[in-house]
Amino acid sequence: MESAIDSRLKCPRTLSRRVSGDYAPPFPMFVARGDKALQQVVMAYFGVQYSEEGKRPQALAALGHIVESFGLADGPVRHDLTDHVDNQDHHNLMAVAYWADPAAYCRWLRSDDVRAWWESQERLTEDFGYFREVVAPRVEQFETLYAFTEDFPGIGGVMGQCSDEIEEHGYWGSMRDRIPLSQTDRLEPFGVLEIASGDPAVGGRVIVRGHDNIALIRSGQDWMAAGEDERALSFDEFLPTLEAGMVFLQESGGRAGCYSNRFVRSIDIDIDIDIDGNELDGSYNIGHWRSLDALKRWAESHPARLPLFVMFLRAVTSLENLRFYREVSVSDGKDQTFEYINCHPRTGVMRDAVIPAGGERPPQAVTRSDKAEQTWASCSWSSTWSFQDPGTRRAASLQGRRPDIRPQPRPHHPPGRVSPGTTYTLGMR
Ligand code: HEM
Repeated sequence: MESAIDSRLKCPRTLSRRVSGDYAPPFPMFVARGDKALQQVVMAYFGVQYSEEGKRPQALAALGHIVESFGLADGPVRHDLTDHVDNQDHHNLMAVAYWADPAAYCRWLRSDDVRAWWESQERLTEDFGYFREVVAPRVEQFETLYAFTEDFPGIGGVMGQCSDEIEEHGYWGSMRDRIPLSQTDRLEPFGVLEIASGDPAVGGRVIVRGHDNIALIRSGQDWMAAGEDERALSFDEFLPTLEAGMVFLQESGGRAGCYSNRFVRSIDIDIDIDIDGNELDGSYNIGHWRSLDALKRWAESHPARLPLFVMFLRAVTSLENLRFYREVSVSDGKDQTFEYINCHPRTGVMRDAVIPAGGERPPQAVTRSDKAEQTWASCSWSSTWSFQDPGTRRAASLQGRRPDIRPQPRPHHPPGRVSPGTTYTLGMR
């Protein structure tokens, strides 16, 4: 038995754990471990959105293009694909990609092919929408949890190694206790979601500015290798209950602090053979929440979520090939990107983003360029958008720094670690 927090990320606590030192969890769970070189990761959700079934072949081809671009230099370490219908009955295909190094992500993002494709005028005239929702948490800002020890999905697959049985699980609040930064930081949200550019009601390109400590959860199950009994358990018990919770979050989650909730089915495409988007035996929830607290409050209190915990406790000792897992991160506002092209206004975190104080709707960004710099431990990048002034129709530009960026390095970095020195600025010129 060991702590969920890797020894290299341990530090003297200024905030206590939710349980006492002699707590023993009721069943075994594990976390992923990464090597020392892993300092900060990138979790990127690239979406293609369409409204009518007839557009699926082209939408799959667009997703195929995104997947192909992963093969370029500095592409992601791993990715998986999903399909879901959203709160407005639009279909959404997503490529979910993970990088072990934000500098590599920056280089990939800035490569000619990737940038030209995203910035092309063609993206604005196609029959579907696109989005990119990207967060880059440092290693002390995320946790994982698995009821199994091999072939981890998601970020665990990037980290590559598995812990021994861990102590911090099986009680409410254990999610927070597994996040290394929670030793010294309450991980509270700062700021609000704001429209940085564009107008969701009009469409076109929209950029949403995030804020510190948005929580992102990926909570999944796969039954790929499960036998009949476990499939029955999954289809007859877990999934119907889970779906009730997902419907609640999709329709009313905003009141609970959930900015965006997607319940997705894993799919496969083989760009060399066909692009069918065949369903795989796995599904997961992707949720963006205002804060870790809001997520925890919902998980520990909502009538559609609680039975899952009880069902899991009943089943856990006999589970063989029905696999449950979770990853939860918080991230700094400066390490988040939310961009939409011709998506409906309730897509992703755009739904809850407000027009900044002052009331003036920001002009729509027409081009964007990213500047990446490699530092010893991490990467800094800044983004520049050029605009067309909506009044004069002349090219214009804006420059400014996010007012709510908290100073780096943070005061609470665990000792023994130097701050990554990331200097991302969401600069507009
Ligand atoms: C079949 C689906 C699910 C099952 C079986 C399940 C089961 C569980 C179990 C057993 C735990 C306690 C884990 C531990 O610490 O040992 C847990 C915690 C948690 N679950 Fe779920 N869950 C499911 C879906 C979800 C979904 C969809 C969400 C979010 C939208 C969610 C959010 C959470 C959160 C936030 C916690 C941590 C609470 C805390 O530590 O304070 N779960 N779940």
